Amino acid sequence: MTDAAAVIERVRQRVDPTPAERRALAAAASRLTERAEAAIAELPVAADVVQVGSTARGTWVAGDRDIDLFVRFPSDLPREQLETYGTTVGAAVLPDGHEEYAEHPYVTGTFEGYAVDLVPCYDVAAATEIKSAVDRTPFHTTYLQERLDDDLAADVRLCKQFLKGIGVYGSDLRTQGFSGYLCELLVVEYGGFQAMLAAIEDWQPPVVIDPAAHQQASFDDPLVVVDPTDPERNVAAVVSAANVATVQHHARRFRATPSEDAFTPASPAPLDAAALRSHIDRRDTTPLAVVLDAPDVVADQLYPQLYRSRDGVVRGLREHGFDVVRAAAWADERAVVFVELASAELPAVERHVGPPVSVGTHAERFYETYADDDGVYGPFVDDDGRYVVERDRDVRTAGGFARTELGTVALGARIESRVASGDYDVYVGDAVVEALLPEFESELAAYVDPKA
Ligand code: UTP
Ligand code: MN
Repeated sequence: MTDAAAVIERVRQRVDPTPAERRALAAAASRLTERAEAAIAELPVAADVVQVGSTARGTWVAGDRDIDLFVRFPSDLPREQLETYGTTVGAAVLPDGHEEYAEHPYVTGTFEGYAVDLVPCYDVAAATEIKSAVDRTPFHTTYLQERLDDDLAADVRLCKQFLKGIGVYGSDLRTQGFSGYLCELLVVEYGGFQAMLAAIEDWQPPVVIDPAAHQQASFDDPLVVVDPTDPERNVAAVVSAANVATVQHHARRFRATPSEDAFTPASPAPLDAAALRSHIDRRDTTPLAVVLDAPDVVADQLYPQLYRSRDGVVRGLREHGFDVVRAAAWADERAVVFVELASAELPAVERHVGPPVSVGTHAERFYETYADDDGVYGPFVDDDGRYVVERDRDVRTAGGFARTELGTVALGARIESRVASGDYDVYVGDAVVEALLPEFESELAAYVDPKA
Protein backbone atom coordinates (compact mmCIF):
# COMPACT_ATOMS: atom_id res chain seq x y z
CA MET A 1 0.00 0.00 0.00
CA THR A 2 1.24 3.48 -0.76
CA ASP A 3 1.60 5.93 2.09
CA ALA A 4 -1.40 7.89 0.85
CA ALA A 5 -3.55 4.77 0.65
CA ALA A 6 -2.57 3.76 4.18
CA VAL A 7 -3.41 7.19 5.58
CA ILE A 8 -6.69 7.26 3.70
CA GLU A 9 -7.58 3.82 5.00
CA ARG A 10 -7.12 5.05 8.58
CA VAL A 11 -9.20 8.15 7.92
CA ARG A 12 -11.96 6.01 6.43
CA GLN A 13 -12.18 4.13 9.72
CA ARG A 14 -12.97 7.45 11.39
CA VAL A 15 -15.36 8.97 8.85
CA ASP A 16 -17.35 6.04 7.47
CA PRO A 17 -20.57 5.51 9.39
CA THR A 18 -20.99 1.95 10.64
CA PRO A 19 -23.89 -0.12 9.30
CA ALA A 20 -25.57 0.35 12.68
CA GLU A 21 -25.24 4.16 12.41
CA ARG A 22 -26.70 4.06 8.90
CA ARG A 23 -29.61 1.89 9.98
CA ALA A 24 -30.40 4.05 12.99
CA LEU A 25 -30.30 7.19 10.90
CA ALA A 26 -32.51 5.75 8.15
CA ALA A 27 -35.02 4.57 10.76
CA ALA A 28 -35.12 7.98 12.44
CA ALA A 29 -35.53 9.69 9.08
CA SER A 30 -38.45 7.50 8.11
CA ARG A 31 -40.16 8.02 11.47
CA LEU A 32 -39.73 11.77 10.99
CA THR A 33 -41.11 11.55 7.46
CA GLU A 34 -44.17 9.63 8.70
CA ARG A 35 -44.81 12.27 11.35
CA ALA A 36 -44.51 15.03 8.80
CA GLU A 37 -46.86 13.23 6.40
CA ALA A 38 -49.41 12.79 9.18
CA ALA A 39 -49.23 16.53 9.94
CA ILE A 40 -49.58 17.36 6.24
CA ALA A 41 -52.72 15.20 6.02
CA GLU A 42 -54.38 17.62 8.48
CA LEU A 43 -53.71 20.61 6.21
CA PRO A 44 -56.09 21.87 3.51
CA VAL A 45 -53.29 21.55 0.95
CA ALA A 46 -51.21 18.74 -0.52
CA ALA A 47 -47.46 18.56 0.11
CA ASP A 48 -44.72 15.94 0.07
CA VAL A 49 -41.69 15.33 2.23
CA VAL A 50 -38.17 14.87 0.87
CA GLN A 51 -35.03 14.11 2.76
CA VAL A 52 -32.12 16.22 1.47
CA GLY A 53 -28.56 17.03 2.49
CA SER A 54 -25.72 14.65 3.21
CA THR A 55 -27.75 12.16 5.23
CA ALA A 56 -30.01 11.65 2.18
CA ARG A 57 -27.00 11.00 -0.04
CA GLY A 58 -24.85 8.86 2.21
CA THR A 59 -22.14 11.53 2.32
CA TRP A 60 -22.25 12.50 5.98
CA VAL A 61 -19.18 12.12 8.14
CA ALA A 62 -19.66 9.52 10.90
CA GLY A 63 -21.00 11.11 14.03
CA ASP A 64 -22.50 14.15 12.27
CA ARG A 65 -26.07 13.75 13.27
CA ASP A 66 -28.19 16.09 11.20
CA ILE A 67 -31.28 15.26 9.20
CA ASP A 68 -32.61 17.78 6.70
CA LEU A 69 -36.26 17.34 5.72
CA PHE A 70 -37.98 19.57 3.22
CA VAL A 71 -41.73 19.88 2.90
CA ARG A 72 -42.67 20.76 -0.67
CA PHE A 73 -45.83 22.82 -1.17
CA PRO A 74 -47.55 23.67 -4.48
CA SER A 75 -45.76 26.56 -6.17
CA ASP A 76 -48.92 28.69 -6.36
CA LEU A 77 -49.45 28.67 -2.59
CA PRO A 78 -49.16 32.23 -1.23
CA ARG A 79 -45.97 32.71 0.73
CA GLU A 80 -47.80 33.54 3.97
CA GLN A 81 -49.60 30.21 3.86
CA LEU A 82 -46.41 28.35 3.05
CA GLU A 83 -44.90 29.91 6.15
CA THR A 84 -47.90 29.11 8.38
CA TYR A 85 -48.26 25.54 7.12
CA GLY A 86 -44.53 24.98 7.29
CA THR A 87 -44.41 26.04 10.90
CA THR A 88 -47.46 23.93 11.74
CA VAL A 89 -45.83 20.80 10.32
CA GLY A 90 -42.57 21.74 12.02
CA ALA A 91 -44.24 22.09 15.41
CA ALA A 92 -46.00 18.73 15.01
CA VAL A 93 -42.82 16.89 13.99
CA LEU A 94 -40.48 18.62 16.43
CA PRO A 95 -42.46 19.53 19.57
CA ASP A 96 -39.26 20.72 21.30
CA GLY A 97 -38.15 22.69 18.24
CA HIS A 98 -37.99 26.40 17.65
CA GLU A 99 -38.39 28.62 14.64
CA GLU A 100 -35.47 30.14 12.83
CA TYR A 101 -35.51 32.48 9.93
CA ALA A 102 -33.54 32.33 6.71
CA GLU A 103 -35.45 33.46 3.62
CA HIS A 104 -38.59 32.24 5.36
CA PRO A 105 -39.15 30.53 8.70
CA TYR A 106 -38.20 26.90 9.25
CA VAL A 107 -38.20 24.73 12.34
CA THR A 108 -35.13 23.27 13.92
CA GLY A 109 -35.13 20.81 16.81
CA THR A 110 -33.94 17.42 17.96
CA PHE A 111 -35.43 14.00 17.44
CA GLU A 112 -33.97 10.84 18.99
CA GLY A 113 -30.62 12.61 19.32
CA TYR A 114 -30.52 13.93 15.75
CA ALA A 115 -30.44 17.62 14.90
CA VAL A 116 -33.33 18.11 12.51
CA ASP A 117 -34.13 21.01 10.20
CA LEU A 118 -37.62 20.99 8.80
CA VAL A 119 -37.79 23.45 5.94
CA PRO A 120 -40.87 24.40 3.89
CA CYS A 121 -40.21 25.04 0.20
CA TYR A 122 -41.99 25.26 -3.13
CA ASP A 123 -42.35 22.32 -5.46
CA VAL A 124 -41.10 23.98 -8.64
CA ALA A 125 -40.55 22.27 -11.99
CA ALA A 126 -36.85 23.19 -12.26
CA ALA A 127 -34.19 24.79 -10.08
CA THR A 128 -34.17 27.76 -12.44
CA GLU A 129 -37.78 28.52 -11.46
CA ILE A 130 -37.20 28.76 -7.74
CA LYS A 131 -39.10 31.28 -5.66
CA SER A 132 -36.69 31.08 -2.74
CA ALA A 133 -33.12 29.75 -2.42
CA VAL A 134 -34.16 26.62 -0.52
CA ASP A 135 -36.34 25.44 -3.43
CA ARG A 136 -33.12 24.47 -5.17
CA THR A 137 -32.01 21.98 -2.55
CA PRO A 138 -34.18 18.98 -3.62
CA PHE A 139 -32.70 19.33 -7.11
CA HIS A 140 -29.20 18.99 -5.67
CA THR A 141 -30.19 15.67 -4.15
CA THR A 142 -31.69 14.38 -7.40
CA TYR A 143 -28.63 15.48 -9.38
CA LEU A 144 -26.17 13.86 -7.00
CA GLN A 145 -28.12 10.67 -6.39
CA GLU A 146 -27.78 9.97 -10.11
CA ARG A 147 -24.01 10.43 -9.98
CA LEU A 148 -22.78 9.27 -6.59
CA ASP A 149 -22.05 5.60 -6.11
CA ASP A 150 -20.77 4.11 -2.85
CA ASP A 151 -17.12 4.74 -3.74
CA LEU A 152 -17.65 8.38 -4.62
CA ALA A 153 -19.82 8.90 -1.53
CA ALA A 154 -16.96 7.50 0.57
CA ASP A 155 -14.58 9.91 -1.15
CA VAL A 156 -16.93 12.82 -0.39
CA ARG A 157 -16.63 11.92 3.31
CA LEU A 158 -12.84 11.97 3.01
CA CYS A 159 -13.01 15.31 1.24
CA LYS A 160 -15.21 16.79 3.97
CA GLN A 161 -12.90 15.52 6.72
CA PHE A 162 -9.87 16.93 4.89
CA LEU A 163 -11.52 20.34 4.58
CA LYS A 164 -12.63 20.20 8.23
CA GLY A 165 -9.09 19.28 9.25
CA ILE A 166 -7.60 22.29 7.50
CA GLY A 167 -10.36 24.61 8.75
CA VAL A 168 -12.14 25.47 5.49
CA TYR A 169 -15.30 23.35 5.66
CA GLY A 170 -18.51 25.34 5.86
CA SER A 171 -20.23 27.88 3.64
CA ASP A 172 -21.13 30.15 6.55
CA LEU A 173 -19.81 33.69 6.25
CA ARG A 174 -17.44 33.30 9.17
CA THR A 175 -15.59 30.39 7.54
CA GLN A 176 -16.07 31.43 3.90
CA GLY A 177 -15.27 27.86 3.00
CA PHE A 178 -16.61 24.84 1.12
CA SER A 179 -20.19 23.60 1.59
CA GLY A 180 -21.09 19.92 1.65
CA TYR A 181 -22.73 20.26 -1.76
CA LEU A 182 -19.55 21.84 -3.16
CA CYS A 183 -17.46 18.90 -1.88
CA GLU A 184 -19.83 16.51 -3.58
CA LEU A 185 -19.66 18.35 -6.89
CA LEU A 186 -15.84 18.50 -6.78
CA VAL A 187 -15.41 14.81 -5.98
CA VAL A 188 -17.87 13.84 -8.72
CA GLU A 189 -16.23 16.23 -11.19
CA TYR A 190 -12.72 14.88 -10.64
CA GLY A 191 -13.81 11.28 -10.11
CA GLY A 192 -12.53 10.79 -6.56
CA PHE A 193 -10.75 12.33 -3.59
CA GLN A 194 -7.15 11.79 -4.68
CA ALA A 195 -7.88 12.83 -8.26
CA MET A 196 -9.44 15.96 -6.81
CA LEU A 197 -6.30 16.75 -4.79
CA ALA A 198 -4.16 16.25 -7.91
CA ALA A 199 -6.36 18.68 -9.84
CA ILE A 200 -6.37 21.23 -7.02
CA GLU A 201 -2.58 21.18 -6.96
CA ASP A 202 -2.64 22.58 -10.50
CA TRP A 203 -5.39 25.16 -10.00
CA GLN A 204 -4.63 28.62 -11.33
CA PRO A 205 -7.31 30.92 -9.85
CA PRO A 206 -9.73 32.04 -11.06
CA VAL A 207 -10.77 28.41 -11.48
CA VAL A 208 -13.99 27.72 -13.37
CA ILE A 209 -15.72 24.35 -13.20
CA ASP A 210 -19.00 23.92 -15.03
CA PRO A 211 -20.17 20.33 -14.50
CA ALA A 212 -23.29 20.65 -16.63
CA ALA A 213 -21.56 22.79 -19.28
CA HIS A 214 -24.07 25.62 -18.92
CA GLN A 215 -21.55 28.18 -20.19
CA GLN A 216 -23.86 31.05 -19.34
CA ALA A 217 -23.19 33.51 -16.56
CA SER A 218 -19.71 34.70 -15.68
CA PHE A 219 -18.70 35.14 -12.08
CA ASP A 220 -16.10 37.30 -10.44
CA ASP A 221 -14.87 34.82 -7.81
CA PRO A 222 -11.56 32.98 -7.29
CA LEU A 223 -13.38 29.63 -7.47
CA VAL A 224 -16.42 29.12 -9.65
CA VAL A 225 -18.41 25.90 -9.64
CA VAL A 226 -21.51 26.54 -11.72
CA ASP A 227 -24.50 24.86 -10.09
CA PRO A 228 -25.52 22.07 -12.46
CA THR A 229 -29.13 22.65 -11.39
CA ASP A 230 -29.00 26.44 -11.82
CA PRO A 231 -26.67 28.13 -14.33
CA GLU A 232 -26.97 31.49 -12.57
CA ARG A 233 -25.46 30.29 -9.32
CA ASN A 234 -21.84 29.81 -8.30
CA VAL A 235 -21.87 27.09 -5.63
CA ALA A 236 -18.43 28.32 -4.48
CA ALA A 237 -19.42 32.00 -4.29
CA VAL A 238 -18.55 32.38 -0.61
CA VAL A 239 -15.15 30.65 -0.81
CA SER A 240 -12.48 33.27 -0.12
CA ALA A 241 -9.26 33.53 -2.12
CA ALA A 242 -7.37 32.67 1.08
CA ASN A 243 -9.32 29.44 1.46
CA VAL A 244 -8.74 28.45 -2.17
CA ALA A 245 -5.01 28.94 -1.56
CA THR A 246 -5.19 27.05 1.75
CA VAL A 247 -6.73 24.01 0.06
CA GLN A 248 -4.10 24.15 -2.63
CA HIS A 249 -1.32 24.30 -0.05
CA HIS A 250 -2.65 21.24 1.77
CA ALA A 251 -3.36 19.31 -1.43
CA ARG A 252 0.27 19.78 -2.44
CA ARG A 253 1.55 18.85 1.03
CA PHE A 254 -0.61 15.76 1.30
CA ARG A 255 0.48 14.51 -2.10
CA ALA A 256 4.13 15.07 -1.27
CA THR A 257 3.95 13.74 2.29
CA PRO A 258 0.72 11.90 3.11
CA SER A 259 -0.25 12.33 6.74
CA GLU A 260 -3.34 12.11 8.87
CA ASP A 261 -2.65 15.62 10.22
CA ALA A 262 -4.55 17.32 7.43
CA PHE A 263 -7.67 15.39 8.49
CA THR A 264 -7.50 16.57 12.08
CA PRO A 265 -8.54 20.09 13.05
CA ALA A 266 -5.84 22.02 14.90
CA SER A 267 -6.83 22.90 18.44
CA PRO A 268 -4.10 25.12 19.81
CA ALA A 269 -3.91 25.24 23.61
CA PRO A 270 -5.46 28.49 24.89
CA LEU A 271 -2.99 31.27 25.45
CA ASP A 272 -2.38 32.62 28.94
CA ALA A 273 -1.35 36.14 29.87
CA ALA A 274 2.34 35.34 30.36
CA ALA A 275 2.59 33.68 26.94
CA LEU A 276 0.79 36.55 25.23
CA ARG A 277 3.08 39.10 26.93
CA SER A 278 6.14 37.21 25.83
CA HIS A 279 4.94 37.16 22.20
CA ILE A 280 4.31 40.92 22.33
CA ASP A 281 7.83 41.44 23.77
CA ARG A 282 9.46 39.14 21.27
CA ARG A 283 7.67 40.70 18.29
CA ASP A 284 8.19 44.18 19.71
CA THR A 285 5.02 45.36 18.00
CA THR A 286 2.11 47.32 19.44
CA PRO A 287 -1.24 45.56 19.68
CA LEU A 288 -4.40 47.62 19.47
CA ALA A 289 -7.87 46.30 20.30
CA VAL A 290 -11.19 47.96 19.57
CA VAL A 291 -13.70 46.16 21.76
CA LEU A 292 -17.49 46.35 21.90
CA ASP A 293 -20.42 44.21 23.01
CA ALA A 294 -21.13 41.86 20.12
CA PRO A 295 -24.14 43.14 18.16
CA ASP A 296 -27.11 40.81 18.66
CA VAL A 297 -27.38 39.47 15.10
CA VAL A 298 -26.87 35.99 13.62
CA ALA A 299 -23.35 34.89 12.76
CA ASP A 300 -23.94 35.22 9.01
CA GLN A 301 -24.60 38.93 9.57
CA LEU A 302 -22.10 39.53 12.33
CA TYR A 303 -18.96 38.18 10.66
CA PRO A 304 -19.23 40.09 7.37
CA GLN A 305 -19.74 43.26 9.43
CA LEU A 306 -16.79 42.41 11.60
CA TYR A 307 -14.49 41.65 8.65
CA ARG A 308 -15.56 44.86 6.93
CA SER A 309 -14.78 46.77 10.12
CA ARG A 310 -11.36 45.12 10.43
CA ASP A 311 -10.54 46.06 6.84
CA GLY A 312 -11.81 49.60 7.38
CA VAL A 313 -9.74 50.12 10.51
CA VAL A 314 -6.62 48.77 8.79
CA ARG A 315 -7.14 50.97 5.74
CA GLY A 316 -7.73 54.03 7.95
CA LEU A 317 -4.60 53.36 10.00
CA ARG A 318 -2.52 52.93 6.85
CA GLU A 319 -3.91 56.12 5.33
CA HIS A 320 -2.81 57.92 8.48
CA GLY A 321 0.70 56.58 8.12
CA PHE A 322 0.66 53.62 10.49
CA ASP A 323 2.37 50.40 9.50
CA VAL A 324 0.03 47.47 10.14
CA VAL A 325 1.73 44.10 10.56
CA ARG A 326 -1.43 41.95 10.77
CA ALA A 327 -5.05 42.27 11.84
CA ALA A 328 -7.91 40.00 12.89
CA ALA A 329 -11.51 40.18 14.06
CA TRP A 330 -13.20 37.92 16.57
CA ALA A 331 -16.53 37.61 18.29
CA ASP A 332 -17.71 36.01 21.49
CA GLU A 333 -19.75 37.91 24.10
CA ARG A 334 -17.81 40.89 22.86
CA ALA A 335 -16.51 41.67 19.39
CA VAL A 336 -12.92 42.72 18.74
CA VAL A 337 -10.98 44.26 15.94
CA PHE A 338 -7.38 43.41 16.77
CA VAL A 339 -4.55 45.19 14.97
CA GLU A 340 -0.85 44.67 15.40
CA LEU A 341 1.19 47.75 14.51
CA ALA A 342 4.86 48.19 13.76
CA SER A 343 4.78 51.15 16.13
CA ALA A 344 2.11 52.92 18.11
CA GLU A 345 3.45 56.42 17.59
CA LEU A 346 4.34 58.51 14.57
CA PRO A 347 6.49 61.66 14.41
CA ALA A 348 4.90 65.08 14.91
CA VAL A 349 5.27 65.98 11.23
CA GLU A 350 4.19 64.23 8.06
CA ARG A 351 5.16 64.76 4.45
CA HIS A 352 2.43 66.31 2.40
CA VAL A 353 3.24 66.10 -1.29
CA GLY A 354 1.79 68.65 -3.70
CA PRO A 355 1.71 68.83 -7.50
CA PRO A 356 4.77 69.04 -9.73
CA VAL A 357 5.94 72.66 -10.09
CA SER A 358 5.34 72.34 -13.84
CA VAL A 359 1.55 72.01 -13.62
CA GLY A 360 0.93 75.76 -13.47
CA THR A 361 -2.25 76.86 -11.71
CA HIS A 362 -2.46 73.77 -9.48
CA ALA A 363 1.11 74.14 -8.40
CA GLU A 364 0.73 77.82 -7.76
CA ARG A 365 -2.35 77.26 -5.63
CA PHE A 366 -0.53 74.68 -3.52
CA TYR A 367 2.41 77.01 -3.07
CA GLU A 368 0.19 79.96 -2.08
CA THR A 369 -1.71 77.86 0.43
CA TYR A 370 1.38 77.14 2.45
CA ALA A 371 3.80 79.95 1.60
CA ASP A 372 2.88 82.10 4.59
CA ASP A 373 2.04 79.26 6.97
CA ASP A 374 4.54 79.40 9.85
CA GLY A 375 3.27 76.07 11.13
CA VAL A 376 4.78 74.05 8.28
CA TYR A 377 8.25 73.31 6.94
CA GLY A 378 8.35 74.48 3.32
CA PRO A 379 6.95 74.56 0.72
CA PHE A 380 10.12 73.25 -0.87
CA VAL A 381 10.80 71.30 -4.04
CA ASP A 382 11.63 67.61 -3.81
CA ASP A 383 13.83 65.50 -6.05
CA ASP A 384 10.90 64.74 -8.37
CA GLY A 385 10.20 68.40 -8.95
CA ARG A 386 7.10 68.47 -6.74
CA TYR A 387 6.20 70.92 -4.04
CA VAL A 388 6.26 69.41 -0.58
CA VAL A 389 5.42 70.66 2.88
CA GLU A 390 6.05 68.92 6.16
CA ARG A 391 3.13 69.72 8.41
CA ASP A 392 1.81 68.63 11.79
CA ARG A 393 -0.18 65.38 11.81
CA ASP A 394 -3.63 65.39 13.35
CA VAL A 395 -3.24 61.85 14.63
CA ARG A 396 0.05 60.70 16.12
CA THR A 397 -0.97 57.60 18.01
CA ALA A 398 -2.84 54.48 17.00
CA GLY A 399 -4.90 54.75 20.17
CA GLY A 400 -5.79 58.32 19.26
CA PHE A 401 -6.88 57.15 15.84
CA ALA A 402 -9.11 54.48 17.35
CA ARG A 403 -10.62 56.95 19.81
CA THR A 404 -11.33 59.85 17.44
CA GLU A 405 -11.20 58.70 13.80
CA LEU A 406 -13.20 55.45 13.65
CA GLY A 407 -16.23 57.39 12.45
CA THR A 408 -14.32 58.14 9.24
CA VAL A 409 -13.63 54.54 8.21
CA ALA A 410 -15.91 51.94 6.59
CA LEU A 411 -17.42 49.76 9.32
CA GLY A 412 -20.16 47.12 9.42
CA ALA A 413 -23.60 48.68 10.04
CA ARG A 414 -24.16 47.49 13.61
CA ILE A 415 -20.60 48.33 14.56
CA GLU A 416 -20.79 51.75 12.97
CA SER A 417 -23.79 52.63 15.14
CA ARG A 418 -21.97 51.52 18.31
CA VAL A 419 -18.97 53.57 17.32
CA ALA A 420 -21.13 56.61 16.53
CA SER A 421 -22.51 56.55 20.07
CA GLY A 422 -19.07 56.02 21.58
CA ASP A 423 -20.12 52.62 22.83
CA TYR A 424 -16.71 50.90 22.56
CA ASP A 425 -13.33 50.65 24.27
CA VAL A 426 -9.80 50.95 22.97
CA TYR A 427 -6.80 49.14 24.43
CA VAL A 428 -3.23 49.67 23.32
CA GLY A 429 -0.05 47.74 24.10
CA ASP A 430 0.09 45.63 27.23
CA ALA A 431 -3.47 46.67 28.15
CA VAL A 432 -4.83 44.27 25.52
CA VAL A 433 -3.68 41.31 27.61
CA GLU A 434 -6.05 41.94 30.45
CA ALA A 435 -8.79 43.23 28.15
CA LEU A 436 -8.89 40.17 25.88
CA LEU A 437 -8.03 37.24 28.16
CA PRO A 438 -9.51 34.82 28.87
CA GLU A 439 -12.43 35.51 26.50
CA PHE A 440 -10.30 35.36 23.36
CA GLU A 441 -7.65 32.89 24.55
CA SER A 442 -8.19 30.47 21.66
CA GLU A 443 -8.29 33.18 19.01
CA LEU A 444 -5.09 34.71 20.37
CA ALA A 445 -3.45 31.29 20.53
CA ALA A 446 -4.21 30.85 16.83
CA TYR A 447 -3.05 34.40 16.14
CA VAL A 448 0.41 33.83 17.59
CA ASP A 449 0.72 30.52 15.77
CA PRO A 450 -0.49 31.35 12.26
CA LYS A 451 -0.62 28.41 9.86
CA ALA A 452 -1.30 28.03 6.16
P1 UTP B 1 -26.22 21.23 5.01
O1 UTP B 1 -25.61 22.53 5.43
O2 UTP B 1 -26.78 20.34 6.08
O3 UTP B 1 -25.11 20.48 4.13
O4 UTP B 1 -27.33 21.60 3.94
P2 UTP B 1 -24.89 18.95 3.83
O5 UTP B 1 -24.69 18.82 2.34
O6 UTP B 1 -25.97 18.12 4.43
O7 UTP B 1 -23.48 18.67 4.50
P3 UTP B 1 -23.11 18.18 5.99
O8 UTP B 1 -22.57 16.80 5.81
O9 UTP B 1 -24.37 18.22 6.83
O10 UTP B 1 -22.06 19.12 6.49
C1 UTP B 1 -28.28 20.67 3.41
C2 UTP B 1 -28.47 20.92 1.93
O11 UTP B 1 -28.93 22.26 1.70
C3 UTP B 1 -28.35 22.81 0.53
C4 UTP B 1 -27.49 21.70 -0.09
O12 UTP B 1 -28.22 20.99 -1.07
C5 UTP B 1 -27.19 20.85 1.11
O13 UTP B 1 -26.84 19.54 0.75
N1 UTP B 1 -27.52 23.98 0.84
C6 UTP B 1 -27.06 24.18 2.10
C7 UTP B 1 -27.18 24.87 -0.13
O14 UTP B 1 -27.56 24.74 -1.30
N2 UTP B 1 -26.38 25.93 0.18
C8 UTP B 1 -25.92 26.14 1.43
O15 UTP B 1 -25.19 27.14 1.66
C9 UTP B 1 -26.27 25.24 2.41
MN1 MN C 1 -26.63 18.25 6.49
